Amino acid sequence: MMIRVYLVLLCSCMARGKIGYFWHITDIHYDPKYSSQGNTDSMCWNIRTDIDTGGIRPARRVAGIFGNYTCDSPWALIESAVHAMKSNRPEEGTEFVLWTGDAVTHNSEMSEELRLQSMKNLTDLLSHTFSSQFVFPALGHEDIGLNFSQIASLWKHWLPSEALQTFEKSGYYTIEQKLKKYRIISLNTNLWLNPVTGVDNRVSQHHQNQRTGASAVNDNTDDPHGQWEWFDQILASALEKKEKVYIVGHTPPGVDERASGASLLQDSHNRRYLQLVQRYASIIGGQFYGHWHSDTFRIIYHEGVPVSWIMMAPSITPGRPNFPNNPGLRLYKFETTSGKILDYTQWYLDLQEANAKGRASWQEEYSLLSYYDLKDVNAMNLHDLAGRFIKTNDNAFSRYYAANTVFLPREVAHRTGCGGALSGTCARQHWCSVTRVNPGPYSDCISLNAFALAEACSPTPRFYIALHVVSALCCLLLSR
Ligand SMILES: *[C@@H]1O[C@H](CO)[C@@H](O)[C@H](O)[C@H]1NC(C)=O
Ligand SMILES: *[C@@H]1O[C@H](CO)[C@@H](O)[C@H](O)[C@H]1NC(C)=O
Ligand SMILES: *[C@@H]1O[C@H](CO)[C@@H](O)[C@H](O)[C@H]1NC(C)=O
Ligand SMILES: [Zn+2]
Ligand SMILES: [Zn+2]
Repeated sequence: MMIRVYLVLLCSCMARGKIGYFWHITDIHYDPKYSSQGNTDSMCWNIRTDIDTGGIRPARRVAGIFGNYTCDSPWALIESAVHAMKSNRPEEGTEFVLWTGDAVTHNSEMSEELRLQSMKNLTDLLSHTFSSQFVFPALGHEDIGLNFSQIASLWKHWLPSEALQTFEKSGYYTIEQKLKKYRIISLNTNLWLNPVTGVDNRVSQHHQNQRTGASAVNDNTDDPHGQWEWFDQILASALEKKEKVYIVGHTPPGVDERASGASLLQDSHNRRYLQLVQRYASIIGGQFYGHWHSDTFRIIYHEGVPVSWIMMAPSITPGRPNFPNNPGLRLYKFETTSGKILDYTQWYLDLQEANAKGRASWQEEYSLLSYYDLKDVNAMNLHDLAGRFIKTNDNAFSRYYAANTVFLPREVAHRTGCGGALSGTCARQHWCSVTRVNPGPYSDCISLNAFALAEACSPTPRFYIALHVVSALCCLLLSR
């Protein structure tokens, strides 16, 4: 406790650098065939069913203008989101936008040409909205099957030539912010997807989808497209140059806290990822992912000490069969000189209200520090927050649970989530997925026994000493 008070004092004494902002958007899942009059039982497409043509017209289940919890995004939703980003731009300015994939719908009936055109229209919309910023995209698991070099030509105005070179070949790149000492690494996590679960099980509701991770990249070696060697080398050189690194990608390591069955990274790649993060934790300023469509985070430990964090932003699309959420947008606040993440504000759209009013009013949902009563964004504080999920007499889990589905109405959220009981098994499942980013230890964790053990254990003095040394070093470096 004393140490923490001391650290807070020490850090607040130091002059703060310039403040900047960046948006993180993810999982748009644009469906050009969405129709507001479409049938929610058929992906909100305006298609005639056999019953329709047979003359018996059942009462149509009409989808709504801005989307439906059972379908992918209509253009109207995406336009409203981008408009909200433009009109809520903070005064100090937005430095860039992270866009972490699943741009296009998963519906496999969509031709490749239509998917490419969808990608082009989304790119145009973002380019016009953010005409003086760069958008840094990453490929999502639904963007597989699109040709890297065709996508590269859509994104060439955002990526410098070295970045374009690696992207065209393999779908990953890095951007160096030369004047500012931070670097963005955009990974192609499709190269590390599990070929068995590479087909998202939600897709099979409609049609079998053949676009698996492995078949799309045709590289089953230990290091598909040399991404590991490249990643390691970029991190090593960043360490040497004392750069802060943001790791950006689509599919994060670990498991989905809502256990939707969506695709995971292959075990071996998951492990290797964690090893690299452990090794380079001192220069990693943040890890930004999407894919789960939910608002959640992960802690990475090294020898029991929390050393790094991952933030998952919720999706713009509301629809994931059985696991819906309200549409979300996230605005990060950071120190531009050091790359230190200071806070974020989560924005959201109350979808039912928007459809009912015929107007989309995006609102602030919460800000990280004040919502969870945190002093600073760091792995230790987030570890403490996760610990509060499984304590009685703490509102942290009910707050997290409401944010997890982006303030989804209770009756919708409870149908597939915790039900009425916001504690016990459900809280434990979330806590395990947040603190166990390796599938093996996660499975152990959700067994009751491990749960009891972990609850009895608290950080050691050695841990606090290590924390002190690391923080003091950071402060020293920053103040130079
Ligand atoms: C989705 O469609 C169903 C069926 O018409 C409707 O009852 C529901 O309110 C819609 N959801 C939203 C968020 O508008
Ligand atoms: C893309 O935009 C063009 C021009 O507005 C439009 O004609 C076309 O239908 C759009 N295609 C898709 C897939 O959104
Ligand atoms: C991708 O597109 C480029 C240019 O249109 C073409 O030359 C290349 O053969 C395509 N690659 C694949 C794998 O289809
Ligand atoms: Zn997605
Ligand atoms: Zn995905």
